[in-house]
Amino acid sequence: MNKRNIILVGFMGTGKTTVGRMVAERVHRPFIDMDSVIEERAGKTISDIFAEDGEAQFRKQERDLVKELCRKREQVIAPGGGIVLDPDNIRDFDRTGTVICLLAEPETILERVGKESHRPLLESEDKARAITELLEKRRPLYDAIPRRINTTHLSASQVADRVIELSRHAG
Ligand code: S3P
Repeated sequence: MNKRNIILVGFMGTGKTTVGRMVAERVHRPFIDMDSVIEERAGKTISDIFAEDGEAQFRKQERDLVKELCRKREQVIAPGGGIVLDPDNIRDFDRTGTVICLLAEPETILERVGKESHRPLLESEDKARAITELLEKRRPLYDAIPRRINTTHLSASQVADRVIELSRHAG
């Protein structure tokens, strides 16, 4: 296994955290869940950051953390779904590791995130619609990542296997 980072991007509910944790365990590397690091450092939840400081402030915290993480190697990193909004994030991640995008159908995403309430961008009366609209808007950004895995019909363990395979074959 090369020393490059493994970075799992993708929309909310595509399994970045679950799969990332599994991959990290299997390849014996630390797992970094970016949302958790940001929450820990801010001393508040992502929802509170959005509500009290605004989305722009959250994006800045994400950007700063990307720069920090890119100084190290041999990590498995799961950023939040919006990391693709700033092309500099993907450019930096690309430089230091293998970026893999996890995909899922909107129905699957709804099943996975439907009962949860910690994602400010999906706090809507009509969650299905919020997912479809945001997914449509971001689709070109996720599609621009060359390595992608459709997770819809795969178990987390199967996705983890594919991620490891893809990163082994990447430079
Ligand atoms: C976001 C995704 C969330 C979190 C924040 C914003 C997004 O992370 O960073 O609520 O813009 O897609 P997950 O993808 O881990 O849910």
